[in-house]
Amino acid sequence: MKVLVIGSGGREHALVWKIAQSPMVKKIFCAPGNAGIGQQAECLPIPAEDVKSLTSWAEKEKIDLTVVGPEAPLTIGIVDAFEERGLRIFGPSQQGAEIEGSKAFAKDLMKKYGVPSGEFQTFADFPGAVSYVKKRGVPIVVKADGLAAGKGVIPCHTLEEALAAIDLIMAKKAFGSAGRRIVIEEFLQGEEASFLAFTDGETVLPFPSCQDHKPIFDDDQGPNTGGMGAYSPAPVLSEKVHHQVMENIMIPIVRAMAKEGRKYRGVLYAGLMIQDEKAKVLEFNARFGDPEAQPLLMRMKSDLIPVLQATVEGKLASRQVDWEDRATVCVVMASGGYPGSYEKGKVISGLEEAAKVPDTFIFHAGTSLKDGKVVTNGGRVLGVTALGKEIREAIAKAYEVVRKISWDGAHYRKDIGQKALKRERKRGREK
Ligand code: AMP
Ligand code: GLY
Repeated sequence: MKVLVIGSGGREHALVWKIAQSPMVKKIFCAPGNAGIGQQAECLPIPAEDVKSLTSWAEKEKIDLTVVGPEAPLTIGIVDAFEERGLRIFGPSQQGAEIEGSKAFAKDLMKKYGVPSGEFQTFADFPGAVSYVKKRGVPIVVKADGLAAGKGVIPCHTLEEALAAIDLIMAKKAFGSAGRRIVIEEFLQGEEASFLAFTDGETVLPFPSCQDHKPIFDDDQGPNTGGMGAYSPAPVLSEKVHHQVMENIMIPIVRAMAKEGRKYRGVLYAGLMIQDEKAKVLEFNARFGDPEAQPLLMRMKSDLIPVLQATVEGKLASRQVDWEDRATVCVVMASGGYPGSYEKGKVISGLEEAAKVPDTFIFHAGTSLKDGKVVTNGGRVLGVTALGKEIREAIAKAYEVVRKISWDGAHYRKDIGQKALKRERKRGREK
């Protein structure tokens, strides 16, 4: 079969890498892809959000299955457009993707169906928002309702910060129409985890546990990014928490979406805050996480294609997925300046030597080819991912590879996976 993957990040490289291992697949295309993806798929110069061109192209090429990576095309209805032409595509409909596209919608849905999440209120008027934060006090979190490339969430520790956040989103319109409404939410404490599952709108088939590292610097310092690294399994998601998340969050939300006439098919990703073995939802995403997809897909032993097909066809109940017992760790290497402004076009060296380390893979994100050389082309550039007997070994292998790669300004967190080790040490002491 012929498969098209949409997107250009590390997540999409991981999807292409995994799909390429399927004996069912003859040819993979990726729109628009990156330098690494180009080694395993034919890249097309069509932007991920150009739904019209992508639909026509897929129809002309008779693509058997399309897999959507990022949220933007989902929220503008790429799945609906493909399905209207009878093309098979993996991902939720536009109405389904609203669970990520509108934080107000997601929060209202959780409230209506009793899914645990922080206290909140939604505002479309500036004075209302201001008087609410004055009444509630700090810390508090101010969020733009719509998509804002991961920048629309502002945690505020002082009243001045909260007022400035409201001003930035509503008056200065820093995120355009995404900030027409804002959600003001209780500041939740605890440790974060990412919970992903395939769902066909009825069955929920979870991935193993995973944890992202959002802030740019070690020890979770500095501004938030798209994610600087991830690992799996994540001990913070104990068996008890896993059970609770399935019963109180994932299954109820999938049922709720169906009940609301928004039957959800694809990957549903819950961003969780866990404290004292109780999980609350920070947000839902309508897609695979990036970088979570890299360590998770590396742990997937089963062929991905039949699972994607069963999801699209509503036949997940009869599916099972086998996972590696071994652990995986992904360390993101980023451009100097990211998540602020950064330069592109820096030549990346050491890739060939680095690729020789067994049980590791270098997923490309913001890379492109220039005069036959791989150069940087984005904020997050590479996702070096390794398998190990346990987390400790996977961490060591991932950093062994990372140290072989360099470019002008490259930086990365040195503490990816350390929270897992800390938790393991604590458990060891308690035993
Ligand atoms: P979101 O896009 O809603 O996941 O927010 C991005 C990040 O902001 C999360 O990963 C958290 O680190 C932080 N965050 C969001 N909501 C809250 C909250 N209610 N309390 C504390 N931190 C939050
Ligand atoms: N790594 C966070 C996300 O994919 O949204």
